Order: sequence, then C-alpha cells, then structure tokens
Amino acid sequence: MDKIKPYDQPMRLQVNLVSGDFSPFTDFYEHRLSQLAVLYHDQAAVHRMLAEGDPLLFDGRTSLFVTSLSDFTYVVTRIYPGQVGDEYFMTKGHFHLLLEMPEIYFCLRGQGCLLLESAEGDFHSQWLSPGTVSHIPPGYAHRAVNVGGELLIFSAVQHLKAGHDYGKIAQRGFSKLVVQRDGKPQLVNNPRQ
Ligand code: F6R
Ligand code: ZN
Repeated sequence: MDKIKPYDQPMRLQVNLVSGDFSPFTDFYEHRLSQLAVLYHDQAAVHRMLAEGDPLLFDGRTSLFVTSLSDFTYVVTRIYPGQVGDEYFMTKGHFHLLLEMPEIYFCLRGQGCLLLESAEGDFHSQWLSPGTVSHIPPGYAHRAVNVGGELLIFSAVQHLKAGHDYGKIAQRGFSKLVVQRDGKPQLVNNPRQ
C-alpha cells in the first residue's frame, strides 16, 4: 500500500462491453497455456496444444481506486473461448490471502460458470451471463470458466489488501471440473481430489 498513490477525488472509467477495454488502467497481464498447464486434468492435451503454439487463455486489466481512507481494485478479466482436451479455458482460481475479504463479480459479456469452494469443501457453481452479479463471500476460493463460444468478460471489485493465495488451488483444484459433454458444459468430479 505504501507505494500506491491515493486519489481522494471521484474517478470514473468507461468499459467497452464488447472488447472489455477500459482506460485508464494501471496494470495489464496476460496468461498463456504454458503458465497454466498444471491446472488442466488432461496433460496429454496440454502437450499436444503446446507443440502447436502457446495460446492466450485470459488477460486482465486493473484500475486502483485508492484514497487516503479506502482501497478498492477494479479488474476486468477476459477469458478466451476454447478448451484443453474437454476442459474449458478458465482462470487460475484463488483464495484471498485475507480470508475474511469478499468480492463482487459482474458478468459483462459471454457465457460462463463460476466455481466457489470453501476450505471445508462447501462447493457451489453459478452460471454467468451478461448482467449476472455474483457475491463471493469470505473464505470461498473462486474460479471463472468460459463455457461459451465467445469471450467471457467480467469485472471484479474487491479491497486491494485482500490479496491472492494461489497455492492450494494450484495443487488440488476445485472439487468439480467444467467439461464439454455432447456439446454442452457439464460439471464432473475432479479426479485429482
Ligand atoms: C481478484 C479476482 C479476479 C481474478 C481474475 C483472474 O480477487 O478474483 O480479478 O484475479 O479474474 O483470476 P485468477 O487470479 O484466479 O487467475
Ligand atoms: Zn478474488
């Protein structure tokens, strides 16, 4: 927090609902398959795809709304359409470092599935379409999955100090995978759990 400059006056930004672009943003990142390979259950499919290239799976733009009294981050994530084997492209998934910190997701474009799971194994899923607001309560890991044929774009609002803990999800994943069966998304048990 020390290095982040506070802006105590009101700010606005405008999100393009088709592309997910907005400005100004403070940070932009891209995640390719090579960085996310361990997340997918079908490692043979991962290797086949990487032999052909290294596709972009998702990216994110962040804007910080930090004042001398408060600290929101606003992030727009875009998940590309596609699959690794039968498993749809998805975010890494994480708990917040400060477990008591909640978050709001708001779907802007596309069709998705949000997976939520507590450390005790209480699992929920929510279908996402434009206009869906999802409350991620304290203590629930969360991952978004693009189950459609176009970009899935959603925004997220949380406190900056919430942070991210990726370790547990990288090792075990969620109790369910989102896979394509007969052309449709379906949740199946995660064989790694
Ligand atoms: C922030 C948040 C989102 C995600 C983003 C990418 O707490 O939940 O902004 O960080 O959608 O997902 P991950 O970080 O799980 O790869
Ligand atoms: Zn989060």
